[in-house]
Amino acid sequence: MSTQPYTTNNAGVPVESDEHSLTVGSDGPILLQDHYLIEKMAQFNRERVPERVVHAKGSGAYGTFEVTNDVSQFTRADLFQPGRRTEMLARFSTVAGEQGSPDTWRDPRGFALKFYTEHGNYDLVGNNTPVFFVRDPMKFQDFIRSQKRRPDNGLRDHDMQWDFWTLSPESAHMVTWLMGDRGIPKSYRHMNGYSSHTYMWINGGGTRFWVKYHIKTDQGVEYLTQAEADDLAGRDADVHRRDLFDAIRAGNAPSWTVKVQVMPFEDAPDYRFNPFDLTKVWPHGDYPLIEVGRMTLNRNPDDYFIHIEQAAFEPSNMVPGIGPSPDKMLLGRLFSYPDTHRYRIGPNYAQLPPNRARSQVNSYAKDGPMRYEPSRAGAPYAPNSYGGPSAAVEGFGDPAGWRTAGEMVREAYALHREDDDWGQAGTQVRQVLDDAARERLVSNIAGHLKDGVSKPVLERALQYWRNVDKGIGDRVAAAVNGR
Ligand code: HEM
Repeated sequence: MSTQPYTTNNAGVPVESDEHSLTVGSDGPILLQDHYLIEKMAQFNRERVPERVVHAKGSGAYGTFEVTNDVSQFTRADLFQPGRRTEMLARFSTVAGEQGSPDTWRDPRGFALKFYTEHGNYDLVGNNTPVFFVRDPMKFQDFIRSQKRRPDNGLRDHDMQWDFWTLSPESAHMVTWLMGDRGIPKSYRHMNGYSSHTYMWINGGGTRFWVKYHIKTDQGVEYLTQAEADDLAGRDADVHRRDLFDAIRAGNAPSWTVKVQVMPFEDAPDYRFNPFDLTKVWPHGDYPLIEVGRMTLNRNPDDYFIHIEQAAFEPSNMVPGIGPSPDKMLLGRLFSYPDTHRYRIGPNYAQLPPNRARSQVNSYAKDGPMRYEPSRAGAPYAPNSYGGPSAAVEGFGDPAGWRTAGEMVREAYALHREDDDWGQAGTQVRQVLDDAARERLVSNIAGHLKDGVSKPVLERALQYWRNVDKGIGDRVAAAVNGR
């Protein structure tokens, strides 16, 4: 008997042929009893899950996070305690493009991390930018639609993009990042990640802090020019996926240093701008970076679909010692991700290999499509008298909240004394960029604006850049007008 493995159907039964259907005579009709042919066709028809509604094109790998500095005075989260090593998964992505879209299109990059901690999964679902386009989850859907495809002709449209941005001045800071060098990283290994949002940390004594995460690439930040990116998009649409996979396979494991800015809980109400506004950074002069640890990606998944396509990141996965802040965008996201996973992958997505907690799961959830792990609860309801888990066990559960009281309103954040939409974008242009980077910014914006933007929107866009910085606005206008 041959030692070569034999083909089976999905039930493990050896099959007769992978080449020929069962027919009546060699030219005859195919028989319904060829259940293996039917299995092949039917399985194929069900091979896809819907792609992510945003961040559809991505790449990822497993790795390890190790703590390098003692931050236990700020959080009791298990994964941040001295000496701790925690297994993790990372997925990087573009935002607006579909599954097959080029890795080098100008776009923010997703930077999603899942830490398999002793107290369940902690997901930090950020981007390669410290800010975002909007500050209220009511606007997210509209924003994304303006960046994706038109309903009439199925095309992407710069007019829609600039129309939305210029009607939403809070986008200015993020658009400055997007149109600059960070808008096209050289590879996923050469970009930083940011929580962007402010989170809450709680220490062992119950003291609360506000934090922002900065995940700095140890490979150095590098970018592609628009021309390099356009060229690569035609030659190798998967260049960033390939780069990450090849680097890890060659033993060249990329790493990032995880840092945080920590704001005392009491500083928030009187800080000069709203510290929970996702369109703002906290100047490092006010809150310097504190090192926490290092994450290293050293294991490629052995099956892309199972581990990366079915990976389900959710900002609502927070572990004891970590909580949300009053950032309205973050609060909106706490609902959105588990909801989209139930639709995209199915209600038992948490049991799949990339999403399974490595710690105990003592949930009362049961049944549903594709459930394969038995419920571990003694009885399927709580409270029960049969030794089932209790949510009132001492040592767990945080005061992960803050005091709030007021009328129900639909209003923007209450203004702090330095809140405005243009200031930090202007500082970025004037103080963070050097001359060459400013020149590339002007050229990138002008190139984008020259591609199908209607006259009224173009005029608003030029004013938008003059509001950010008069000089940059004038230079963009000159470049658009070919001067
Ligand atoms: C993916 C919603 C804002 C980062 C997604 C997905 C949804 C979504 C529905 C698809 C998830 C999936 O199918 O697996 C929202 C909503 C937002 C918001 C409603 C605002 C209210 C943000 C912000 C960031 C962000 C501010 C970054 C700071 C990501 C990342 C992914 C993602 C990295 C991809 C996760 C992965 O790799 O699987 N978002 N998002 N999103 N979002 Fe958001």
